[in-house]
Amino acid sequence: MRTGKITAPMLLAMKQRGERIASLTAYDYPMTRLVDEAGVPFILVGDSLGMVMLGYPDTTHVTMADMEHHVRAAARAKPRALLAADLPYAGYGTPEAALANARRLIEAGAEAVKAEGGRPILPQIEAIVSAGIPFIGHLGMLPQSVHQEGGYKIKGKSEAERASLVADAVALADAGAAAIVLELVTPPVAREITAAIKIPTIGIGSGLECDGQILVLHDLLGTFPWFTPGFVQRYFEAIGLTRLKAGEEMRTVISEWKRLVENPP
Ligand code: KIV
Repeated sequence: MRTGKITAPMLLAMKQRGERIASLTAYDYPMTRLVDEAGVPFILVGDSLGMVMLGYPDTTHVTMADMEHHVRAAARAKPRALLAADLPYAGYGTPEAALANARRLIEAGAEAVKAEGGRPILPQIEAIVSAGIPFIGHLGMLPQSVHQEGGYKIKGKSEAERASLVADAVALADAGAAAIVLELVTPPVAREITAAIKIPTIGIGSGLECDGQILVLHDLLGTFPWFTPGFVQRYFEAIGLTRLKAGEEMRTVISEWKRLVENPP
């Protein structure tokens, strides 16, 4: 029985109660409804939609207009889950831009916004939080920085990276973030951050010891069969679940339908 709207402060309460936070992305009305009806409490309209919905090579091409379009569609599902949305690349260069664009996403139907980075974007986070907009942090591998970084790299391997990640997480928690996504952080560092801060950590490719886990929905369902990050397969193996390959099944059904239309029984 699904009761009661999930709000950002409830994520903190879930961590305090020791409840793991299952989280998924969704970018449109039907998938948001399906994920919500499955009882997932945290849904992200991630800028990963740039790749899995719009065919861009990475998230740096996603615009505010793209985000607003998909947030509106997802919000029409009126999920019980907390519905968060990504501030896109170039959407939060200054505190003024961050706040204006966060407001646009909230007007489109998001209930929280997420942005990538730690201490360098603290003024932006403070502007968003001071305006009463729930904020979700994102540390570790930052997909919007893929060009500066020269690829998608695991973070936390060196002592300097470990110390920097912990300091960023503490700064985000102190600034009032409601939760922090940890992407491709080494499991020991993800564990250390999770123990060091009161707000929940939501891991992706960061081991099993975060307060929650998030996946790109298309990676869970196998509906973007052309590329699946290696950590997704390893995660399925770690939790003992066989990965669905819905994209391949869809191709089979479409081919069979086409064959029958062309050669009626
Ligand atoms: O854009 C996205 O989908 C994300 C998740 C991978 C956390 O940021």
